[in-house]
Amino acid sequence: MQRQALITGASRGIGRATAVKLAAAGHRVLLNYRTRDDLAMEVAERIKEQGGQAELLPFDVAEYKQAATVVKQYIKTHGAIDIVVNNAGITKDQLFGAMKYEDWDRVIRVALDGFYSVTKPCIHGMLKQNWGRIVNVASMAALFGNAGQVNYSAAKAGLIGATRALSRELCKRGILVNAVAPGFIDTDILAALKVPHEDLEKLIPMGRLGLPAEVAKVIAFLVSEDTSYLTGQVIGVNGGML
Ligand SMILES: NC(=O)c1ccc[n+]([C@@H]2O[C@H](COP(=O)([O-])OP(=O)(O)OC[C@H]3O[C@@H](n4cnc5c(N)ncnc54)[C@H](OP(=O)(O)O)[C@@H]3O)[C@@H](O)[C@H]2O)c1
Repeated sequence: MQRQALITGASRGIGRATAVKLAAAGHRVLLNYRTRDDLAMEVAERIKEQGGQAELLPFDVAEYKQAATVVKQYIKTHGAIDIVVNNAGITKDQLFGAMKYEDWDRVIRVALDGFYSVTKPCIHGMLKQNWGRIVNVASMAALFGNAGQVNYSAAKAGLIGATRALSRELCKRGILVNAVAPGFIDTDILAALKVPHEDLEKLIPMGRLGLPAEVAKVIAFLVSEDTSYLTGQVIGVNGGML
């Protein structure tokens, strides 16, 4: 059955791979992003070339009014959004003693205000049809805690708490809420870590970085029809690290 799926942060990395995968599964995908119109247009073109349906929905997930307004307007004109993948995320790494408030605030807001602003307007339509899927992209950092990433680890741990609580609120209505916790995945975000890939690979039992498509496959399963008894879970996609 074709569903409408909103993927935040779909211009690059894991979000892009997820959008391509969900479009290939037959869903109409809504590509959210903040700055990279050029890349988002490329993703939409690729999906359309492969016979899929894609629409651009740019907004800043951290800006409540902007994000909620765009999502509500979309639902009003196009009907319920059945699948939400809260994938947009950023890092602003620094040891905590030197961390600026702005860098604490921004990382938390992209993860948690983003979750609130995008997910909440979609709930009503999901409740009306007794079907919905929400996947939050957390991180191994939430479970492990990374030095230099107190803001990011806290933001992602918050997202896991929200996942578990919301799953309990909605599970009797056919709406399943889960999280994935990727390890080291080969995307632009890793560049900000400033650690050579070879050093990261030594930490991973499988001996290599993950690919965005490998996370996308797990997300695609979590939003499918096949997960009727799976909710409130955090699925690690990390090459065996945890
Ligand atoms: N890669 C990893 O190793 C790894 C590990 C664990 C968890 N994760 C999580 O996985 C998710 C995706 O990461 P990635 O590695 O694919 O990152 P990425 O390649 O840096 O892509 C980030 C995406 O998020 C979008 N974005 C950032 N801030 C936004 C905002 N305020 N509003 C809307 N969109 C925004 C970007 O859009 P624009 O560029 O167009 O602005 C981009 O599409 C993140 O939540 C990240 O924390 C990644």
